[in-house]
Amino acid sequence: MVRGASRRQNFKGGFRECRERLHRTAAEPTVENGVLLKCHLLADLSFPILSIYALVLTCDSIAAIPPEWRMNEMAANHDFERFQTGAAKYAAYLETPEGRLRLDLAFANLQEFLPQASHSLHALDLGCGTGAMAVRLARLGLHVTLLDSSAPMLDFAQRAAREAGVGERIALKQGDAGQLANLFDAELFDVILCHNILEYIDDPGGVLRAAARVLRDPSGMVSVLVRNRAGEVLKAAIQEGDLTASEHNLTAEWGNESLYGGRVRLFAAESLPAMLAAASLAVTAGRGIRVLSDYLPPKVSRNDEYGRIFELERKLGRRPEFAAVARYTQWLAHRAAPEIKEVA
Ligand SMILES: C[S@@+](CC[C@H](N)C(=O)[O-])C[C@H]1O[C@@H](n2cnc3c(N)ncnc32)[C@H](O)[C@@H]1O
Repeated sequence: MVRGASRRQNFKGGFRECRERLHRTAAEPTVENGVLLKCHLLADLSFPILSIYALVLTCDSIAAIPPEWRMNEMAANHDFERFQTGAAKYAAYLETPEGRLRLDLAFANLQEFLPQASHSLHALDLGCGTGAMAVRLARLGLHVTLLDSSAPMLDFAQRAAREAGVGERIALKQGDAGQLANLFDAELFDVILCHNILEYIDDPGGVLRAAARVLRDPSGMVSVLVRNRAGEVLKAAIQEGDLTASEHNLTAEWGNESLYGGRVRLFAAESLPAMLAAASLAVTAGRGIRVLSDYLPPKVSRNDEYGRIFELERKLGRRPEFAAVARYTQWLAHRAAPEIKEVA
């Protein structure tokens, strides 16, 4: 939508420029083959000429865009479209053992750190997707606001909430998490989820800073779940046998999204804690999600052995040496106490 708008802007800009040029020419009557052309005559012919000229200018300006910008624009279009058309695919993925495991592990970690309060807690789920986490929180009695830029994802979430009988504790909002600072008042939420959305956001640090602002102080908590770069190194080598990709992933900023195709931002071990600190959020705990379940041999049934895999993953995810190579990392954080500066 935004890209389409910028192309329209280009077209309008080209149209305006060309009209101004023609009007400048037409202001001075010109002699051509002995005929005096008045500016109103030119104006009559101007619309079709202007349209073609504006189109040419637009094409010129597109061709003048550096290739890396065009790549970024294509990637951004893809980022936007995959969640518009891929909501059903995403919902189906969450039903697979891998999808379930990510949700169940993240939720178990979250429950460990949920604030204890006498009042009813309010949560914000940024990039809520199909609402799987929000519905679980609502079942615990929390009121949850779901923010997502994709209407089809929100439709899934609304249906899930209704079917779970928690519709009255759910509020849906379609919007851009990049605009979070303008969407809600400060200190409104006790819990903020940021699960698998920062991978698709232009400025993840900005979203975390805005999240810190809408988080209630001092007991509120943020849960951030991101794709772990070290996990992509193991996945490429062990699952795909692709040693080149594995080596490339050691330093890659972007990985490949296996569900939809396209790119996904990867987070190095130290980058998320640094972003949290820059957003005045202090880490309470870090957990690895899916350390080895993605690499189990086929003889281990993901469905029949689900309970045992879950319990083993819970243990591994708490230990830093295993968490470091998990597919995802989850960070639980709260607002950092303001620094007390000594007055000399
Ligand atoms: C991979 S899904 C994760 C969904 C859910 N949080 C989960 O963990 O299952 C990413 C979600 O973020 C949403 N999203 C991506 N960019 C967004 C943005 N800029 N603002 C709001 N939502 C966004 C997508 O529409 C999609 O529903």
